[in-house]
Amino acid sequence: MGDERARLGAYNPGDWSSDALPMLCETVAVSAPPDVPPLVARALDLSRKEGFITATRTETGRLLAALAASRTGTLAELGTGCGVGSAWLDSGITGDARVVTAELDPALAEKVQELFVEAQRIEVTSGDWSTLERYAPFSLLFVDVRDVKRSVDVVADLMGTGGMVVLDDFTPCQTWPPVYAGRVDVVREQWLADDRFTAVEVMVAEDASVVIATRR
Ligand SMILES: C[S@@+](CC[C@H](N)C(=O)[O-])C[C@H]1O[C@@H](n2cnc3c(N)ncnc32)[C@H](O)[C@@H]1O
Repeated sequence: MGDERARLGAYNPGDWSSDALPMLCETVAVSAPPDVPPLVARALDLSRKEGFITATRTETGRLLAALAASRTGTLAELGTGCGVGSAWLDSGITGDARVVTAELDPALAEKVQELFVEAQRIEVTSGDWSTLERYAPFSLLFVDVRDVKRSVDVVADLMGTGGMVVLDDFTPCQTWPPVYAGRVDVVREQWLADDRFTAVEVMVAEDASVVIATRR
């Protein structure tokens, strides 16, 4: 591995800029065009400026966009961060569909509101999951907050029939029950076995997976 690849292999998303994206994309495990939608690039730039290291990775973003393209009505996100996930969702939706996203940190929510001032299909709210309740039911909900992932009951009540919950940030695992760091991953186990959902874990890269759970 050359020096450049070694550096990118240990990248910190806080170092991202839109200029670096084509190089970063060389390290992904699946085939994808190197360009990202302009609004995603701007959200990645904000992530870099803010030193925000937990931005949604590009592989997951592409999955969000592809799923969003099949959705109508209201899509939502819990944990806006610097807006990367919302921007990917926005890049996929069509027709009258819209995206609502909630961020607990009011200062960060305000920065993303400014970033999305001309993105009329995205609404950024400041608060926890309860601020999203008034927009429910959702046709897709991207859950990117660790604590909320544990709350299957809360999330189930926000979803319309056929609505998809996308839960980010798992590490792929070949066993049942799923194991992470030497322990049963009870959160993942719960999502994959809950009767209210039909669920699957999907690898988006060698080291990353998401759970997609569709409300029955
Ligand atoms: C993993 S980051 C989200 C990254 C973002 N979804 C993206 O696409 O780049 C998690 C974010 O959730 C926010 N957060 C934490 N707890 C929350 C809660 N209960 N409700 C809403 N946001 C929360 C954090 O402040 C942080 O910005």
